[in-house]
Amino acid sequence: MSFKFTEENLARIEESKKKYPTSLAAIMDTIYIAQEQNKYISQEVMEEIANVLQVKPVDVLGVVHFYTMYYTKPMGKYHIQVCTNVSCMLRGAYEIWEQVKNKLGIDNMGVTQDGKFSLEEVECMGACGYAPMIAINEDYYENLTKEKVNQILDSLK
Ligand code: FES
Repeated sequence: MSFKFTEENLARIEESKKKYPTSLAAIMDTIYIAQEQNKYISQEVMEEIANVLQVKPVDVLGVVHFYTMYYTKPMGKYHIQVCTNVSCMLRGAYEIWEQVKNKLGIDNMGVTQDGKFSLEEVECMGACGYAPMIAINEDYYENLTKEKVNQILDSLK
């Protein structure tokens, strides 16, 4: 089944293109919109992005594979990103990382069998003053303890 953008998302892409001198410059916005719609960037999605922006498929491929925020396989309904960069690490991020891994039974870039959770170890997410932190989808959870992480994960079950 081939991928097509919704009318609404095509309009968003057109708006994005107006902000830039070339269509190619709107590629990151467009990939983001595609991921929002399809949940991950498949080969078909990449082809449609290239088609809509009138750029080469290899341009899309290069950007998708360069940035870690784009996924080429389906991730969980709740995508959990655990920061283990310096500030978070100094305040116990690896304990939290191990705890989340053990609780969900998955490793980096893994997805639970029911498709509910996926897990990713990430670099600094700009919330160092509130370390340690995790992000779940678009939401940040800060000043965490292992107990708080447990509560958060349990509340999502
Ligand atoms: S080091 Fe974790 S948010 Fe900056």
